[in-house]
Amino acid sequence: MKTSKIISTYLHRVTAVEKAPKELIDDLNRDLELEFAAMVQYLQHSQMLMGAPEETFAKELLTHADEEWGHAKKIAERISYLGGTVGMKIGETESAPTTVGMLKIDLKGEEIAIDRYRSRISWCDSHNDPGTAQIIREIIVDEESHRDELLIYLNLKS
Ligand SMILES: [Fe+2]
Ligand SMILES: [Fe+2]
Repeated sequence: MKTSKIISTYLHRVTAVEKAPKELIDDLNRDLELEFAAMVQYLQHSQMLMGAPEETFAKELLTHADEEWGHAKKIAERISYLGGTVGMKIGETESAPTTVGMLKIDLKGEEIAIDRYRSRISWCDSHNDPGTAQIIREIIVDEESHRDELLIYLNLKS
């Protein structure tokens, strides 16, 4: 990396650090924990359904797992950019013995994620942080799509 690029990155981070309150870093770290948990949970659910008549669901849940990992990476990068310490905790995970049970758990997780990200965007909008809000907006579009797919699957099963 060129020296000018290193200096510019450093200055950027210093400026960002001054702007990032602990409240935001803490919330983003909790979001990160929940993204890790969502990834693990989707991986487990997809593999428990693989080979069952619901294999179509299983493949889609595996895609969700990949996308949750993508969200985790985006959030971790943002925490680092803002000068925070990236956490390594994993949120609570849950499974169920039936397809419907697993899908309901996943749906609840998506609804929680959407609520959390809505409040994160509101906070960022009122604290002049359009960069973080933009990243969270990109993530929330995926979460809404996950929620809608789960609702379709649950309708198919009922
Ligand atoms: Fe996510
Ligand atoms: Fe999701």
